[in-house]
Amino acid sequence: MRILGIETSCDETGIAIYDEKEGILAHRLYSQIAVHADYGGVVPELASRDHVRKTIPLIKEVLADAKLTAKDLDGVAYTAGPGLVGALLVGCSIGRSLAYGWNLPAVPVHHMEGHLLAPMLEDDVPDFPFVALLVSGGHTMLVRVDGIGQYELLGESVDDAAGEAFDKTAKLLGLDYPGGPALAKMAETGKKGRFKFPRPMTDRPGLDFSFSGLKTFAANTIHKEEMDKQTHADVAYAFQEAVVDTLAIKCKRALLQCELKRLVIAGGVSANTELRAKLEQITAKLGGKVYYPRPEFCTDNGAMIAYAGMQRLKAGVFADLSFKATPRWPLDTLAAI
Ligand code: KG4
Ligand code: ZN
Repeated sequence: MRILGIETSCDETGIAIYDEKEGILAHRLYSQIAVHADYGGVVPELASRDHVRKTIPLIKEVLADAKLTAKDLDGVAYTAGPGLVGALLVGCSIGRSLAYGWNLPAVPVHHMEGHLLAPMLEDDVPDFPFVALLVSGGHTMLVRVDGIGQYELLGESVDDAAGEAFDKTAKLLGLDYPGGPALAKMAETGKKGRFKFPRPMTDRPGLDFSFSGLKTFAANTIHKEEMDKQTHADVAYAFQEAVVDTLAIKCKRALLQCELKRLVIAGGVSANTELRAKLEQITAKLGGKVYYPRPEFCTDNGAMIAYAGMQRLKAGVFADLSFKATPRWPLDTLAAI
């Protein structure tokens, strides 16, 4: 079986074709970063309009890349939520309409389930059950995963998501949106130990996170210091170290609490090399292992939506004729398959 995957939940148009036996046959990504750069963040209306422009051409390109036509497909998967409602509606309406026109099943996909299953696109696939750390621009969650659709929320951010904290702190350091990767680059020349940022909510039990205080801490530090190039890098270093340490402490706690040794990390922030290195260290110490997608499948993409859609297609989970975008959609309300 083969499925087309459509991702339009935020500022990336991602299209892919996944084959049950051969894996990803083709995928393309169009990033809207340039569209939003002048505004320092995603402008929802501009995002929707750009998805309208790009989705159909990208679908044509991906079909051509894979040397396939609609007749070779068995279903159409699209991100139905969570995300920006206008952006979601573009993918939902195009996906649902194509499925109708091509007489194929339409499969609505949960964006975070897509991220969570993205490591399954790699050669080294984790067995269930495992603990997943989902860290993106909109979410920070620890989830116990017992199977597809069997998600128990262990903890989440009570305020900013980790990616959001990266982006806001990067902005304070004069970096362009989305600042996460740029801040990580800046931190490479930072000195360890010059600034010490807090590790929020690690001194009490539980698996929730809070990252908005770190951004404030960064703002206060920047305010107090003479901000030359080295100081920028030192602040970036201390901020990144604090986020990475905090995430690592909670991951270790979650693994011990669940008595599991496999950890999956996914979502944009999982592309961060310091985070990967730290989580490899802590899982190795526990006799376990960490699994993650290749960097291009850490951030938003169509491949993860095609993969998650295929799992639901195989289980016979389709949409009716309506297309519904669900901007707020808790992951643990999904049905097990
Ligand atoms: O998963 P994603 O592409 O979109 C959402 O669903 O939110 O995640 C984007 C987030 C942004 O906040 C971006 O700054 C962050 O992931 N990000 C990073 C890195 N690469 C992307 N943060 C830290 N280090 C990185 N290397
Ligand atoms: Zn995402």
